[in-house]
Amino acid sequence: MRLLRRKTKKHGLDTSRDLPVHIAVIMDGNGRWAARRGLPRNAGHREGANTLKRVVKECNAIGIKYLTAFAFSTENWNRPRQEVNALMQLLLEFLQNAEKELAGTNIRITVIGDTDKLSEEIRNEIDRVVANTAANTGLNLVIALNYGSRCEIAAAAARIARDVREGRIEPEDVDEELFSNYLYTSGIPDPDLVIRPSGEYRLSNFLLWQSSYSEFWYSDILWPDFSKEHLYQAISDYQNRNRRFGGL
Ligand code: IPE
Ligand code: IPE
Ligand code: MG
Repeated sequence: MRLLRRKTKKHGLDTSRDLPVHIAVIMDGNGRWAARRGLPRNAGHREGANTLKRVVKECNAIGIKYLTAFAFSTENWNRPRQEVNALMQLLLEFLQNAEKELAGTNIRITVIGDTDKLSEEIRNEIDRVVANTAANTGLNLVIALNYGSRCEIAAAAARIARDVREGRIEPEDVDEELFSNYLYTSGIPDPDLVIRPSGEYRLSNFLLWQSSYSEFWYSDILWPDFSKEHLYQAISDYQNRNRRFGGL
């Protein structure tokens, strides 16, 4: 038994018990990371994308089933045109290189968010990557792209209203489970652990419905500096939380 336990311990992290099934990360602090080095903000975004690749591989290696990464919010369009363009370019490159970067990892990629507002080039890449990785059974990387919870919830309400009007469902059918199935995250379990680096203590319109009972982990570390050790710390803190879900 002791031997077995030691085997599943990875750098102090016990991967044999209470691993979160779904981790969600708000990849924040790229701009400040760059500013502190006297670099343009985009250099921070580039480094942030590298951090994501490392975290994805690490989560896959320890057996996490879902990782949702907040890459671009519905509010991020309010940034200067030049920064939005740079972010979109990075997203495009990330998608274009995804299979090559993640070769041999069995990682599946899906996207949540209002993708209609993205360029045709990006939408085509999303379709390609999602289709090419659909049969993979390892970590499911969920990229939140032009994602906003309020927009998601309003869109779900609109679709439910339409289905009621067209007689497919009755108002009485609308319960928590049915509502969940109208969200972008339909079929994805709620996040167990939400990680937000960069010293901000807010959700910024991320997974409001889904994080009702999530455990939160905040840190001052800026996303480009987020390492395997921080990931392990967050998971190990999570393992020591007592989740009661309103019970005793
Ligand atoms: C997160 O880093 C990346 C996105 C929001 C796309 P920021 O760009 O928000 O970095 P800070 O918060 O300005 O440091
Ligand atoms: C949240 O970060 C969005 C993403 C990480 C994609 P922001 O930097 O946009 O959040 P606020 O503006 O500080 O709340
Ligand atoms: Mg920010």
